[in-house]
Amino acid sequence: MKILTYPEKFLLQPTVPLENIDGQVQQMIDAMAETMYTAPGIGLASIQVGWDRSVLIYDISARDEKRSLHVLINPRIISSEGEIISDGEGCLSVPDFRADVKRSERILVEGHDRDGNPMRVEAEGLHAIVLQHEIDHLNGRLFIDRISALKRELYKRRVRKAMRENEPAL
Ligand code: NI
Repeated sequence: MKILTYPEKFLLQPTVPLENIDGQVQQMIDAMAETMYTAPGIGLASIQVGWDRSVLIYDISARDEKRSLHVLINPRIISSEGEIISDGEGCLSVPDFRADVKRSERILVEGHDRDGNPMRVEAEGLHAIVLQHEIDHLNGRLFIDRISALKRELYKRRVRKAMRENEPAL
């Protein structure tokens, strides 16, 4: 699957709840997983691959560990506490840019697993950061919406410049 990148407008659109978990949904999730591992990334939201239903996947296992894919459908943050600085956060949809982002330290998330069973996830640290980042995506938000206006403007300017340089010359 192709990963959409900023300034693609589709990324700013909130997703809608997934109602029917059928075989096609399973195929989409498998394709998302392949895309995430190939990138490589540790999390991916449906909207990033052009799918507007609320699905996120992640795998925060260490590089030398066995893969451990997690799937959350229609996730919602129920509660959050504490504060943590996500150190040099990045995003597959915001290439070549990293910035510190203020996040909740601990969160409780409710959603469904890929078989449609209700589930709750208690997360802290990196686990909580990844979930907040992907749930932001499902709500049409990018991590650059959570950094200072100055840093965001620097990034946007860089993207605009790169786009101009890629335009065909006369
Ligand atoms: Ni992202």
